[in-house]
Amino acid sequence: MTVSVPDMTHPIPPIFTKAELDADPHAIYHHYRDRVPFLKREDGAYLVLRARDVQDLLSDTRTRQMETELLVANGITSGPLYELMSNSLLYANGDVHRRRRQPLTRAFAFKMMAELRPKVRNLAHDLLNNSFRNGGMRLKEEYAALIPAITIAAILGVPRQEVPHFTRLVYEVSKILTTSWTRDELPAMEAATRDLITWTEELISERRRSWTGDFLSEYVARVDDAGEISSTEAVMQIVSVILGGSDTTRAAIVVQTGLLLDRRELWNACCADQLLNQAAVLEALRYEPAVGSVPRLAISDICIDGYTIPAGSPVLLATISSMRDPSIFQDPMVFDIHREQPRWPLVFGGGEHRCLGEALARIELEEALLALTMTLPDLQLAGAPLRVHGHAGIRRVEELEVSW
Ligand code: HEM
Repeated sequence: MTVSVPDMTHPIPPIFTKAELDADPHAIYHHYRDRVPFLKREDGAYLVLRARDVQDLLSDTRTRQMETELLVANGITSGPLYELMSNSLLYANGDVHRRRRQPLTRAFAFKMMAELRPKVRNLAHDLLNNSFRNGGMRLKEEYAALIPAITIAAILGVPRQEVPHFTRLVYEVSKILTTSWTRDELPAMEAATRDLITWTEELISERRRSWTGDFLSEYVARVDDAGEISSTEAVMQIVSVILGGSDTTRAAIVVQTGLLLDRRELWNACCADQLLNQAAVLEALRYEPAVGSVPRLAISDICIDGYTIPAGSPVLLATISSMRDPSIFQDPMVFDIHREQPRWPLVFGGGEHRCLGEALARIELEEALLALTMTLPDLQLAGAPLRVHGHAGIRRVEELEVSW
C-alpha cells in the first residue's frame, strides 16, 4: 500500500492498487472516508468516497459520463463490443443520451413494470419447484442467473426454446461491464456480442414485419415514428437493456440470500413476515451492492477539501462507500433489515443515467427472495458462505451452494 504524506499546499490523496482495494474495500473506504474526500488508484482513477460528494457529482457540470474512454483504455477500438458501447445510452451524454433513453423510459416506469410482478413470481416458484426434489442447488447458476435472463427474454418475446442460448450469450457479453474479465476471454466476449447483436437485429426486423403489440413492437414503432435514432442505435439500446439487467440482478439475488443465510435470525424473520423481504432487499443492496461505483470523467478540476481531481481524470463515484457513510446511515457497518432506507437508493446511481431498470430489478429481487423464504424456510448454506469481490463497477459473486 502506498500512502502519500499530505503536503498542506498540494495534498495528494492516498494511492492504492486495484488488488489492495479488492482485498478489503469496505475497510479501506471506512478508514479513509472522514480523512480524505477521495482515493487515487494506481491507474489514475479517483474514487470519491462520501455520500454528499457522490450525489453532487452524479449530476454536476464538472463531470460527464464516460463515452468510449474505458474501452479505449482497455485497447478496444473497433469490433462488436466497441460498436455496442459507442452506440449505447449508458455511455452517451447530453442530447445523444436523451434521444437513446427516451423511447425506453415509459416502458420501464414503475407503474408499467408492476404488471410484470405476477409473471416474475411464477417464474421464481417454477424454478424452485423444478429443483425441489434435488434437495439443493447452485443458487447463482440455477436460480439467480435465470430470473433476470428469463424475465428479459419474456419482455422481448424470445421464443422459449431459445432462452438457454440467449442466457449463455447474455452472461458472456455482460462481462464487459465488470472489472473481472481477462484478455484471453475477449475473443469469446466479442463473438458472443456479435451473436447477441445479430440476434436482436433479427428480433427487431420480425417486429417490423409483423406487429405483435408487445414491448418490442411498441418500441420499434416509437423509434421509427420519432426518427431520432438510427436503426443501429435502436438495436444497441435493446442490447444495453439486456446487459444492464443481467449480471447486476444475478449478483444481487445471490448477495441478499447469502447475507440472510449467514444471519439465521434475520432469515427466520423474513420467513415469518413477508413485508420484511422488501426491506431486506434494500438493505442487502446498501450493505453489499452488486454495483460498487459509477464512472464519470472530470471535465474540469474538481476541488474538495483542498484536494484536486485534475480535469481529464477518470472518476469513480464509489456508491459502495457512500452507502456506508455515517452521515446518512446510522451504524452503517451493521446489516440491519429494520433500518429506514432512502426513497431513491444510491445503488441505482442518480442524475440522467439513473438506472432505467430500477423498478424491474426491485421486483425481481423481491420476488426471488419471497419465493425462497415462503417455500424453503429451512434453506441453508451447503458450502462456502457468500463471497463478493470487487471495489468498483459491477462486482463479482461466487457460486453459493444451498440445500433444504
Ligand atoms: C440490482 C440490480 C441493478 C443495479 C444495482 C443497477 C445499477 C445501475 C446503475 C448504478 C446505473 C447507472 C450507471 C451510470 O450512471 O453510469 C444503471 C444504469 C442502467 N441500468 Fe441498471 N441496475 C440494476 C438492474 C437493472 C435492470 C434490471 C435493468 C434493465 C432491465 C437495468 C438497465 C440499466 C440501463 C439500461 C442503464 C443505463 C441508463 C442510462 O445510462 O441512462 N439495470 N444501473
